[in-house]
Amino acid sequence: MENFKNVILQGDCIEVLKNIPDNTYDIIFADPPYNLQLKNELYRPNQTKVDGVFDEWDKFDSMKDYDDFSEKWLAECRRVLKENGTIWVIGSYHNIFRVGAIMQNLGFWFLNDIIWVKTNPMPNFKGTRFNNAHETLIWASKNKGSSYTFHYKSLKAFNDDLQMRSDWHIPICSGNERIKVNGQKAHSTQKPAELLYRVILSSSNPNDLILDPFNGSGTTAAVAKRLGRNYTGIEKESFYIEVTNERLQKIIPLEKSLLEYKIEKAPPRVPFGSLLEKGFIKIGENLYSKNKDFKAQVLADGSLIYEELVASIHKVGAFILNKESCNGWTYWFVERDNQLISIDSLRKEYITKFIQNEQTIVKKENNKESVAEMNEMLKKIVEDARKTKTLTT
Ligand SMILES: C[S@@+](CC[C@H](N)C(=O)[O-])C[C@H]1O[C@@H](n2cnc3c(N)ncnc32)[C@H](O)[C@@H]1O
Repeated sequence: MENFKNVILQGDCIEVLKNIPDNTYDIIFADPPYNLQLKNELYRPNQTKVDGVFDEWDKFDSMKDYDDFSEKWLAECRRVLKENGTIWVIGSYHNIFRVGAIMQNLGFWFLNDIIWVKTNPMPNFKGTRFNNAHETLIWASKNKGSSYTFHYKSLKAFNDDLQMRSDWHIPICSGNERIKVNGQKAHSTQKPAELLYRVILSSSNPNDLILDPFNGSGTTAAVAKRLGRNYTGIEKESFYIEVTNERLQKIIPLEKSLLEYKIEKAPPRVPFGSLLEKGFIKIGENLYSKNKDFKAQVLADGSLIYEELVASIHKVGAFILNKESCNGWTYWFVERDNQLISIDSLRKEYITKFIQNEQTIVKKENNKESVAEMNEMLKKIVEDARKTKTLTT
């Protein structure tokens, strides 16, 4: 496994992948040749040449050749993908429908198609068709019903608390981001890092291993390194490997603490009564609203009494606010050293002291148990081996 970690391997991905064991990768991002079939050079109305994709690696003799090639690399990718892993494949109208059909035939299960809306697309210079302003990413799991990684809450927070949608508005790679060698674009189809940022952030975890079988200028590897993931890139052309390695040298991984998906972890449920039992809040003391405009008294059973009403911290809060519901944890405060502190901060203290500590102890105990079990097993194996030896000699 270590041979494939954080390297760009040179060769035809179909051949290179044959050396990689089954179920190796957590996610795969593939930006294969699109088979654009651009034969003639393209000029703008002012006769300047368009910097299109005329590379040899994008040329196939026929649609059949392209399909055979796609089936081979996709089958290898499916084999090296972990059972709960996912694959992303990007393409345009030239190839994505063919590639999509092959993926479904191979058993991949489609989760989404993402439309990458290019905010600064290249115009249709001849004016003969619509301006082609998007590309499509297929996101698929290895099997139907597998439990793949998706950081739903994180992506929602990323998108101003709105569900992240399947249309992503991102500019094409240009300006300083575009890698140049001797003033020329180093690669004709360098993808924007922003696109890979969303792909990797949404569907993988720190330390995961990510495969890009069509590495190009190394956008996947660069973003993976920045986000604390491991990568394997595969690329036919040595020039692009040099460009990638130089690019990777400049990338500094983000600190581990910044990469945690804290928002995904729901806080453990703590009943209000537990705070009474452990003495964080005293029976008979008052809880106050933020400005001390309202107060209620804590009863022995964990309910509050406010005027005539006896109910939970949430229901009394909702009654005072004249609302359907209220989060009592954030509504109520207690007085400590002449200052108001939120009961939610007491709940956090409780979690740290009684729940997280307990979990660590349980983990340690489990470890102890499994080490003891292993020792027992080893003893048995050695004993059995000894017995066999005595019998055969
Ligand atoms: C569309 S580009 C990928 C661009 C890349 N996503 C980036 O951001 O720079 C496809 C790349 O795959 C490489 N390639 C094409 N066929 C290949 C194959 N069979 N095995 C490995 N690499 C291949 C090409 O040389 C090209 O660099």
